[in-house]
Amino acid sequence: MSVKKSMEDLTKDLQAKRAELEQGGGPDRLAKQKKDGKLTARERVDALVDPGSFEELGLFAQHRQTLFGMAGKEVPADGVVTGAASLDGRLVHLASQDFTVLGGSAGELHSHKVADAMEMSLHTGSPFIFINDSGGARVQEGIDSLSGYGRVFFTNVELSGAVPQVSLICGPCAGGAAYSPALTDFIIMTKKAQMFITGPQVIKQVTGEQITAEALGGADAHMAHSGVTHFTAEDDADAINICKRLLSFLPSNNLEDPPRLPHDNNVDPNPALRTIVPVEGKQAYDVRDVICGVVDRGDFLEVQAGYAPNMVVGFARILGRSVGVIANQPSYLSGAIDINASIKSSRFIRFCNAFNISLVTLVDVPGFLPGVQQEYGGIIRNGAKMLFAYSAATVPKIQVILRKSYGGAHLAMCSKDLGADRVYAWPTAEVAVMGAEGAVEIVFRKEMEKAEDKAARRAELIDEYRSTFSTPYVAAGRRLVDDIIDPADTRRHLAQALEYLQTKRDHRPPKKHGLIPL
Ligand code: HXC
Repeated sequence: MSVKKSMEDLTKDLQAKRAELEQGGGPDRLAKQKKDGKLTARERVDALVDPGSFEELGLFAQHRQTLFGMAGKEVPADGVVTGAASLDGRLVHLASQDFTVLGGSAGELHSHKVADAMEMSLHTGSPFIFINDSGGARVQEGIDSLSGYGRVFFTNVELSGAVPQVSLICGPCAGGAAYSPALTDFIIMTKKAQMFITGPQVIKQVTGEQITAEALGGADAHMAHSGVTHFTAEDDADAINICKRLLSFLPSNNLEDPPRLPHDNNVDPNPALRTIVPVEGKQAYDVRDVICGVVDRGDFLEVQAGYAPNMVVGFARILGRSVGVIANQPSYLSGAIDINASIKSSRFIRFCNAFNISLVTLVDVPGFLPGVQQEYGGIIRNGAKMLFAYSAATVPKIQVILRKSYGGAHLAMCSKDLGADRVYAWPTAEVAVMGAEGAVEIVFRKEMEKAEDKAARRAELIDEYRSTFSTPYVAAGRRLVDDIIDPADTRRHLAQALEYLQTKRDHRPPKKHGLIPL
């Protein structure tokens, strides 16, 4: 007759079992993970959330695979740590893949655990954070692992626009597994990580191209070339800090406003703003100096800093309120809008709109970038994304015209006609259908041909056109500009407008969804 164990013994067994499972792949594999310069799955969770706040769910989950040597094989937590926690005092849900357990590969149970945590995010209106470090779908589990990932993708889409989703890529993220991060709002990638759909070996077999894994799918490649990632982190600790900082700007869900931080009410003039932008339209400067000159403590979290640098986007605060800043960057391609800049800014605008973050747009743009590659690449379809994103956005929208604002690009940078609630222009602003040089070629070509001194007549006409249209006064006369302001007072105007616009409501006709030109 078997004797029932005492409660004390059962509790000891439980503690031993728990301790064993928390060791993941065991001391040797954990040591290797550390030797590789990475934190372990549990260390990442500890570093991310408030001390003592993590509630783990599913530690005892076990796969049910019996083939390919898996029968009875212990796979601690099925290779992923999942649960709820508080982060800077706010609820989050998370999943952290454990590379020491079968390479963090995602079996059926693994993916169900991830998707369950995601659904808890949705039900509780809290952000979801997915720390990736995995060889992808668990090959031994075949289509069960494929199906599990399918549920993760589906749930990513359910959460999209309802709660913020952030992916940290801290190790391999290979094959179809890369599509879960791609479905989230922000990807933070460490320099130890690699992401690709097909690796170098498959590429060599199929296309003959030779490339290293790092050059193909490293953090720098995804920032500079593919635009897949939003932040590059030195290491795990840096990625976690970026994640925390990013979340600090965001509400927990789409029904809340972003948290307003304490502020000192300081809107004193900043005379430095009068000297950053050269009056001469062709001279370059760094628009980030303007951004830092108007936002709280010069604190600006730039998103996709290494991608399409002709457009700067990111988060900041004005009197403690989160804002999304979109700005042309005259120091790169003269700030012209190309395909990548349009895609980058449109995505950012839509994120801000989904999560009730007001938009501040700083304009100094000569136009859309001309070129055969731009036209063949679909600058029409892709540039239209900006028009669509701004027009569809119902959050407070403020445009500040710093200098040039020409043509379609003027409209695309959130003009009055695209629903800007406030348009401010600096005295240097030039609002025109196109630059004066181009305009006289179209309107006065014949007249210039007839002139004795063609160059002198051309210069005269350019001057005339510029002084007529290339000022903020004509646009203000047509109520396309609400006010022409001293640059030094920009912060005060923005703070006041954000205050007065906080109750803005903009109801659109009901429909399933609009059809942004993809
Ligand atoms: C099962 C896996 C695995 C996987 C790694 N492992 N990936 N087990 N399924 N997908 C196991 C390895 O067998 C090994 O187990 C352990 O994890 C560590 O892996 P190593 O190869 O020793 O580590 P490393 O040299 O650091 O290389 C890591 C890696 C490599 C680059 C991720 O393991 C790799 O290329 N894995 C396969 C990646 C891949 O092709 N994934 C696609 C899966 S199919 P042992 O016990 O030997 O230590 C897929 C389809 C899409 O994703 C599904 C929809 C999303």
